[in-house]
Amino acid sequence: MTLQFALNQANPATAATDCIVLGIFADGALSAAGETIDRASNGRLRALIARGDVSGKSGRSALLHDIAGVAAPRVLVIGLGEAAKFSVPQYLRAIADGVRALKSGASKSALCTLTELDVPGRDANWRVRQAVIAADHAAYRYTQNITRKPDAGLETLHLSADTAQQAALDAGIGIAAGVAYTRELGNLPPNICNPAYLAERARQLASEHAHVTCEVLERADMEQLGMGSLLAVSRGSANAPKLIVLKHNGGGDAKPFVFVGKGITFDSGGLNLKVQGGIEEMKFDMLGAGSVLGAFHAAASLKLPINVVCIVAAVENMADGDAYRPSDVLTSMSGKTIEVLNTDAEGRLILCDALTYAQRFEPQALVDVATLTGACVVALGKQAHGLMSKHEDLSNELLSAGEHVYDRAWRLPLWDEYQSQLDSAFADVANIGGKYAGAITAGCFLSRFTEGQRWAHLDIAGTSWDEGKKGLASGRPVGMLCQWLLDRVA
Ligand code: BES
Ligand code: MN
Ligand code: ZN
Repeated sequence: MTLQFALNQANPATAATDCIVLGIFADGALSAAGETIDRASNGRLRALIARGDVSGKSGRSALLHDIAGVAAPRVLVIGLGEAAKFSVPQYLRAIADGVRALKSGASKSALCTLTELDVPGRDANWRVRQAVIAADHAAYRYTQNITRKPDAGLETLHLSADTAQQAALDAGIGIAAGVAYTRELGNLPPNICNPAYLAERARQLASEHAHVTCEVLERADMEQLGMGSLLAVSRGSANAPKLIVLKHNGGGDAKPFVFVGKGITFDSGGLNLKVQGGIEEMKFDMLGAGSVLGAFHAAASLKLPINVVCIVAAVENMADGDAYRPSDVLTSMSGKTIEVLNTDAEGRLILCDALTYAQRFEPQALVDVATLTGACVVALGKQAHGLMSKHEDLSNELLSAGEHVYDRAWRLPLWDEYQSQLDSAFADVANIGGKYAGAITAGCFLSRFTEGQRWAHLDIAGTSWDEGKKGLASGRPVGMLCQWLLDRVA
């Protein structure tokens, strides 16, 4: 069950809810809600802080019970860290810490007063919207194919704010649902989430919204279009490739914003089989597709007054007797020929044809999103998406959207000097660029297929999922993409 949200102006001392969530700073300073609770309880909160039972250190929390003078049976105190350092990440963390503490506890409802805290450079609308997104993220559970029932817990989170923030609350709910959609697709195993499954989910999305249409191009359609590069990657798989095209029409005849997502539902590496480890994480290699679908989901459910086209290249990269080979030369839809020097550099091979196809929609801006290179993870870690674009203005739009919602990207150069690393003796371009600057040469490869377009590329190989046995899809960069779209509306 998903977490429900509501605005609430109740006094925290008298609110009828199962739990009050409030913050305190590391020096013991109370928030306004903390003052209210302290006064109502005759100084109990301050006494517990003095005794060391409650700490304002970041990451600490304390669940207090039956505080005299407080109507709610529980008070959850979240440590906010130093007041002077309190900013966007500390705010988002406090919200998430609060939800995680209540996720499977006895409280069905809670009143979160953290939305009243001052966040430098951000207004009340931002605080409400991002609180919903952060809270929903923290409440997320993956339950598909798990027969044991998860513990029940928090069902409704009330946020302290007045009715002026209703639109912000609704936007937060729409974006959070898009994030959850992306995470669910990413977390599904590749035997379920294959190209046909993604196509089915896209069709379903269209059936839920009158202003959304879906078209799925099959192998024969792609053959007709001459998508020799995308089709080569798909050849080793028993699962047929799908090129999914979703359109959200909210902006009349305005030129659309076009997203293209890498949807490799499993990346074995192909004949260049992934033997150095990490192959079991390659179900996440469709998260470029997953995140453009999630952002599209949000745009559609929020009925944004713009046009958005979402193109997903859904393909499985497998090894087989019919698989494409290292040294094969492919002819892409653009007419450019490509020498395959490594079948594990498959993402760019499906994206180049999808990007060529995208040009027919005459995009205002064209943004592709892909778990493209391990080199991007080496360069930027799991903190920042790699952003590559030759367009200063588009780069800045995306960077500042990411900054605003703390889903940040960092720009890497696409200078001409890197292009020669893609030289080939047997085709127009090679699909790998050697050991240096691997994230950039992948971007350079894509740049050959987006000439004349207002285009940007996001490499999310490091940011789109958390590593390890219990690692889940992060839902990034849905937040950034949604903010970018919202900025285009304003
Ligand atoms: N899907 C991978 C990139 C990747 C690697 C994402 C690790 C997340 C974590 C991509 O298809 C790939 O295999 N890239 C190769 C390119 C190389 C052969 C030029 C890589 O990064 O090693
Ligand atoms: Mn690969
Ligand atoms: Zn891949």
